[in-house]
Amino acid sequence: LFGAIDMAPRDPILGITEAFNADTNPAKINLGVGVYYDDGGKVPLLQCVQKAEAKLIEQLSPRTYLPIEGLAAYDKAVQELVFGAGSAVIQEKRAVTVQALGGTGALKIGADFLKRFSPNSEVFISDPSWENHRALFESAGFIVNNYTYYDAQTHGVNFEGMLDSLRKMDAGSIVLLHACCHNPTGADLTQEQWGQVIEAVKQGGLIPFLDMAYQGFGAGIAEDGAVVGRFVDAGGPLLVSNSFSKSFSLYGERVGALSVVASSADEAARLLSQLKRVVRTNYSSPPTHSGKVVAMVLSTPELRQLWEDELAGMRVRIKQMREALVEKLAQKAPGRDFAFVREQVGMFSYSGLTKEQVGKLREESIYAVDTGRICVAALNSKNIDLVVDAIAKVL
Ligand code: LMR
Repeated sequence: LFGAIDMAPRDPILGITEAFNADTNPAKINLGVGVYYDDGGKVPLLQCVQKAEAKLIEQLSPRTYLPIEGLAAYDKAVQELVFGAGSAVIQEKRAVTVQALGGTGALKIGADFLKRFSPNSEVFISDPSWENHRALFESAGFIVNNYTYYDAQTHGVNFEGMLDSLRKMDAGSIVLLHACCHNPTGADLTQEQWGQVIEAVKQGGLIPFLDMAYQGFGAGIAEDGAVVGRFVDAGGPLLVSNSFSKSFSLYGERVGALSVVASSADEAARLLSQLKRVVRTNYSSPPTHSGKVVAMVLSTPELRQLWEDELAGMRVRIKQMREALVEKLAQKAPGRDFAFVREQVGMFSYSGLTKEQVGKLREESIYAVDTGRICVAALNSKNIDLVVDAIAKVL
């Protein structure tokens, strides 16, 4: 039965972590996966998380099943974060939220749900997009296409090309948009451009699916999430996947959510019942621990403030690393202009390094994605010179 099964290719991102883990060089550096490391090279366990966990240990509770849609306090806190506390869509009970296994789990629930209720739609993702977007929607049974997005010459967005792509899509197409901190390019739309995208989505009768995995890593929590409210105000259906992997440094806890906006409370109740079916047939119900931690932090004022401060700390350190990278590369590789790295936002830089150059970096035990995406959040004051020297050498 299994004799003819081929070896699957390594995952383009997590496969790099596998290769990195197998590397015995103590000076190895992983700029592949989107994980934030502190200046000491460690993945932080945030203070707000530690405090919430300490409280949970004081109030030890049994681990019965959560409802299929997740912990009510978590889903409420997520809605308030994503749509804004007191927003009309929450008050009118038009938004439904299900706790999901990270951002990936949220996307998968959304994809399976859409396949059930809009089976003939095609899906459009940005060119380029996060490697897993295509695979996730294809595995749900969709045909996945690209819309124009990145301009390698300017290192920014080819906005006219993007609008043109949006205007050519058939009504009912599903368009996957990165709410902030575009992965992999780090090139985001301006507020003005978002307005035009929202208009094109509305005019074209498209189904917008916002992926928000990096809220707080761009300009700030509210600023990065503002686009969600703008889509809600424009009316029409909307799906939003969000993740706390990065913003809470809870990668391994798989904690995220899918929110769907309906046109009425009655429609929302029906949507939720169908989302629950999708969850039930995928993994039944989500895990308890991480939902409790995030719900407690988001809804306890002191912990919430601590989280916002800690997230701001991560955001600022990444920006400092961008600055340092640009300055150091200007000295070590004066023939190439890397000033664009300063303009990019979020964890990543689409560095412009070729696959071959990435391969040469790997020989020095520096790991990046084949597309040239590097995780700036993995740079620190101790490893940056090694990285800069290696990049200068391979250019
Ligand atoms: C990334 O893009 O590196 C992260 O979102 C991690 C992942 O799951 O790929």
